[in-house]
Amino acid sequence: MTNTKIKFENVEFTYIPPSGRPVRALERLSLDVAENEFVSIVGPSGCGKSTLLYLLGGFLPLEHGEITVDGRKVSKPGPDRGIVFQHFALFPWKTVRQNVLYGLERKKMDAAQRDELAQKYIDLVKLTGFEDSWPAQLSGGMKQRVAIARTLVTDPDVLLMDEPFGALDAQTRGILQEELLAIWGLTRKTVLFVTHDVHEAVLLSDRVIVMSARPGRIKSTVNIDLPRPRNSEVTRSQNFASYCDEIWGLVREEALVASGIKT
Ligand SMILES: Nc1ncnc2c1ncn2[C@@H]1O[C@H](COP(=O)(O)OP(=O)(O)OP(=O)(O)O)[C@@H](O)[C@H]1O
Ligand SMILES: [Mg+2]
Repeated sequence: MTNTKIKFENVEFTYIPPSGRPVRALERLSLDVAENEFVSIVGPSGCGKSTLLYLLGGFLPLEHGEITVDGRKVSKPGPDRGIVFQHFALFPWKTVRQNVLYGLERKKMDAAQRDELAQKYIDLVKLTGFEDSWPAQLSGGMKQRVAIARTLVTDPDVLLMDEPFGALDAQTRGILQEELLAIWGLTRKTVLFVTHDVHEAVLLSDRVIVMSARPGRIKSTVNIDLPRPRNSEVTRSQNFASYCDEIWGLVREEALVASGIKT
């Protein structure tokens, strides 16, 4: 038996905007993620994927149900959960090194230790030599490497990634996917990864969760029973293509519901 790391139990969430109608984002959502598991979440736009991550991150107050990490209730952000967003979210006035060090600001360690740790993660994401560059001098892929290093440096148990490669070109995306898998192999975090890219979800994951149109619930769970490493032999296999087709079909149905074409 594997250990449950993250548990969502009957989670519901409604946005109440200052004006206009409330938006029911999640409804009766339950999900268990095992320790070290790599789980991707796919679903039509607006189905509540980001909301699910923000709730787990502790950035939104839980309205109903319960979310636990290692059996402890989530109520606010914490160092056990690190998040990487789609749009880099770097400080433009800080260099690469300073951005990565930011994650360590509140840790009790001396400056030399901090620098050493920051360097380790800058090296891990292959940005050696760019320590003193400013974000404006970096490509999109490099910026996202900085964001990943800044999150990993705090050594969170759980890594939450919200379309982290969504804004990158296909080639850079492919490289970062490979590198993320290598890092995951080394650090063995539990990863919850949101993506619109079904190929990416199958490539990376142990399990892919398909969410329904809003209000988001879990529509299906697909175990990706493919060997690792997921090299080209695996990605070119019939099994890989079948998983992609199956998940595409499930997402498509919900996208049609979301767009009002199907009920
Ligand atoms: N601050 C907010 N106020 C009101 N409604 C919101 C707010 N944030 C999100 N929503 C709505 O809640 C629903 C879920 O949003 P969420 O961002 O979680 O979806 P998503 O699945 O991440 O979408 P996407 O794939 O486009 O990123 C959407 O209908 C969205 O419009
Ligand atoms: Mg989103």
